[in-house]
Amino acid sequence: MGKEIVQTKSVFITGATSGIGLATARAFAAMGYSLILNGRRRERLHTIEKELSAQVSVTLAPFDVSSKQDVVEWFKQNEDRLHSVEILINNAGLARGTDPLQVGDMSDWDEMIDTNIKGLLYVTRQTLPHFLKNQKGHIVNIGSVAGRWIYPGGAVYSATKHSVRAISETLRLDTLGKNIRVTNIEPGMVETEFSEVRFRDKNKAKAVYQNMTPLTAQDIAETITWAVSRPSHVNIQELVIYPTDQASVRDVFRS
Ligand SMILES: NC(=O)c1ccc[n+]([C@@H]2O[C@H](COP(=O)([O-])OP(=O)(O)OC[C@H]3O[C@@H](n4cnc5c(N)ncnc54)[C@H](OP(=O)(O)O)[C@@H]3O)[C@@H](O)[C@H]2O)c1
Repeated sequence: MGKEIVQTKSVFITGATSGIGLATARAFAAMGYSLILNGRRRERLHTIEKELSAQVSVTLAPFDVSSKQDVVEWFKQNEDRLHSVEILINNAGLARGTDPLQVGDMSDWDEMIDTNIKGLLYVTRQTLPHFLKNQKGHIVNIGSVAGRWIYPGGAVYSATKHSVRAISETLRLDTLGKNIRVTNIEPGMVETEFSEVRFRDKNKAKAVYQNMTPLTAQDIAETITWAVSRPSHVNIQELVIYPTDQASVRDVFRS
């Protein structure tokens, strides 16, 4: 008798080399999902592969989500790995600077728009046909409270996360009746490498979380695994998660 091939369900996570993406990879590994992990820093991906492949099968997807050509090429070359993907976590993203618009750095704007909007669109465009073929799938977009509320110096980052919200809502309409779930997770302050990337300065980044208790990457990972583990007729459309010490994008309690 031929051996039965059991295909484990897998999750594709963009931006899995640090912060929320890495914590989410660990959380899904603990749930027994095979992992496809994306990010640009290859050494980090290999270290994470070493850590998690003791638990589950890990495939690396080392490409820049903002490069249309690299995204299309990776998906073309790895088509056979995509049949078992049931969940896509569009997490790769970044903020750059907090300058007022009138003096903003236009290269920073390009980087945020290319990563947070176009990158999310490219990866979703490549994954969604597989979900439709399988007649099931769950897309979890990592938006932000900046996708609902704005603050000085945050025009472009906020615009990208407002776009994530618009894309999430449209995706639900475009896939209605196809058994596809779309969740937009909108965190407030989470202590990751996010502020270091934003300010290009470790000390400035540290100051962001001084004398307050921010969310952890694991808090968000737990929320994501909760949302995807609801029964298939339940779609958590949107979740806003602030730390207790933050009441709005501009109001933070510091002891
Ligand atoms: N931290 C917060 O306060 C906060 C709040 C709300 C929403 N968010 C959102 O949460 C998501 C994750 O951020 P985080 O807080 O975990 O920050 P992080 O620690 O800096 O992680 C960002 C991840 O995105 C990846 N990434 C960035 N640009 C990429 C690209 N062009 N191609 C592929 N991967 C890319 C990075 O990997 P490589 O550098 O290796 O490519 C890294 O793994 C982002 O979308 C962010 O906007 C964060």
